[in-house]
Amino acid sequence: MAFSFFAVAVLLYLGLEVPEGSPAPATAAQEGVQITYGSVIKLMHDRTKFRLHSHDVPYGSGSGQQSVTGFPNVDDSNSYWVVKPPPDSSAKQGDVIPNGTIIRLQHMRTRKWLHSHLHASPITGNLEVSCYGGDMNSDTGDFWRLEIEGSGKTWKQDQRVRLRHVDTGGYLHSHDKKYSRIAGGQQEVCGVREKRPDNVWLATEGVYLPINTSDV
Ligand SMILES: *[C@@H]1O[C@H](CO)[C@@H](O)[C@H](O)[C@H]1NC(C)=O
Ligand SMILES: *[C@@H]1O[C@H](CO)[C@@H](O)[C@H](O)[C@H]1NC(C)=O
Repeated sequence: MAFSFFAVAVLLYLGLEVPEGSPAPATAAQEGVQITYGSVIKLMHDRTKFRLHSHDVPYGSGSGQQSVTGFPNVDDSNSYWVVKPPPDSSAKQGDVIPNGTIIRLQHMRTRKWLHSHLHASPITGNLEVSCYGGDMNSDTGDFWRLEIEGSGKTWKQDQRVRLRHVDTGGYLHSHDKKYSRIAGGQQEVCGVREKRPDNVWLATEGVYLPINTSDV
């Protein structure tokens, strides 16, 4: 039997059904904590190690919506984001998130959604990324598609990923272009349509909800 006991145990742990006759999954890809809907996470920009951040400060240009920046310090409660499915999704709290899934990220402190659109970003004139809407107010501008780098089939902590904005095709991007007028050396976050090393992120600190293994 190619399908080892270990592989079955891993699948059970992941809360997935064990399909008949399927090959054993790669065990290396099973390491790391799974990110599930309802988890509260920080996203670290791979190149600069800054955290995706928002706060109740509007952009002084573009849409004038709530600003999103890269934040240098690890410990800041304005860098927490809640992972949610789109409103019409059948996904439930505690479900794992496969590659290619459309997700939303809700800023924990202000309840607004990570959003993008065709406004120009303040420093480099790329696509502006803002926080917009609220619990009962969300649109397709809040939709981001998960693209996992490497071999993982579902999203895990410390795994390199890209988030591609559905409406504009822009990847969530940051770089060491800093705002001179904001304290603490925060850097620009924007959308860029080309795949670049500067649009890779990792889920780091957070509260990871355990996988919900109960079947419907
Ligand atoms: C995830 O999906 C993207 C886009 O479809 C693809 O390029 C990438 O190879 C996939 N990653 C994995 C680990 O399958
Ligand atoms: C787990 O899923 C079941 C079935 O959908 C649901 O009734 C239950 O509330 C879920 N538990 C949590 C902690 O989300």
